[in-house]
Amino acid sequence: MAQKRVGVIGFPVEHSLSPIMHNAAFVALGMNDWLYDAMSIPPDILRLGLREPRQHGYIGINVTVPHKEAIMNFVRPDDTAKAIGAVNTVDFRTGIGTNTDAAGLLNDLAANDVKIAAARVLVLGAGGAARAAVYGLARAGATVAIVNRTMKRARRLVEQLQATAGIGGVQVMTLDAAASWGMSVIVNCTSVGLHPQITQSPWLFGVPFPAGVTVYDMVYRPANTALMQQCVAHGGRAIGGLGMLARQGAIAFELWTGVEPPIEVMMAALHAALESKGEG
Ligand SMILES: NC(=O)c1ccc[n+]([C@@H]2O[C@H](COP(=O)([O-])OP(=O)(O)OC[C@H]3O[C@@H](n4cnc5c(N)ncnc54)[C@H](OP(=O)(O)O)[C@@H]3O)[C@@H](O)[C@H]2O)c1
Repeated sequence: MAQKRVGVIGFPVEHSLSPIMHNAAFVALGMNDWLYDAMSIPPDILRLGLREPRQHGYIGINVTVPHKEAIMNFVRPDDTAKAIGAVNTVDFRTGIGTNTDAAGLLNDLAANDVKIAAARVLVLGAGGAARAAVYGLARAGATVAIVNRTMKRARRLVEQLQATAGIGGVQVMTLDAAASWGMSVIVNCTSVGLHPQITQSPWLFGVPFPAGVTVYDMVYRPANTALMQQCVAHGGRAIGGLGMLARQGAIAFELWTGVEPPIEVMMAALHAALESKGEG
């Protein structure tokens, strides 16, 4: 019987790949007294629902849609969570909530030798993932611009990051303007291209695609998105978002256990899970 429990809360949460990757890491490290499971908590009972894992001795939890913002009211968000406006990892021992998405992205870009400091980076999207990306990329020294279907939302994101983290100089532009902006990296933080809409791309097909850029696509179902294919067809390099998923999880794993997890094991478990669903 596992004595040390961690898990993920969401609604719905059954689709989450987090249990697969964390439990694979526990097995690989022989941490047989650890278990990671998924808990479905409806939004209207989030406060009450949080009592369950706390009372049952959970060490910490990951937090996914739709609880990432609301949970800020029930934990002590650290500076990163406050800047991003969302918590995805909680340590019940301290009551602190943090957000590992920005660090997960930056760690995976670094693992893939993508240079960010002093680079021009275009972020596609203005939702929660984009806010984490812009926060991380700007702090890592990139010059960042945002393109989003709803421009007003992108402008609000820029204002929020200025207010919460003092991040300035982030431009909002149209896709047409971005085509000639001269970025070396594009990070897709939209959900466009996600399974089953696999033929769609956030880079609209009439707009000239910049040659030789690196695309980092946070979408990882499918492994090779339409955007990634456009990029490679124009002489660029494309990286899917599975590594970010593993690395944001790895930061939580280390926070809870004090042990560095085997990233390759986590990645292999994720690949296998997606392959078995036909979404790899
Ligand atoms: N790899 C990872 O570890 C990782 C981590 C976090 C998130 N993600 C992925 O990142 C994606 C975004 O997540 P999120 O939490 O930021 O979601 P979100 O808050 O719902 O934001 C969705 C974004 O996608 C845009 N969008 C949606 N449908 C569109 C369409 N048909 N055409 C153009 N733009 C469209 C939205 O634009 P509007 O503002 O105009 O609606 C918005 O910018 C998801 O696919 C998620 O799975 C991956």
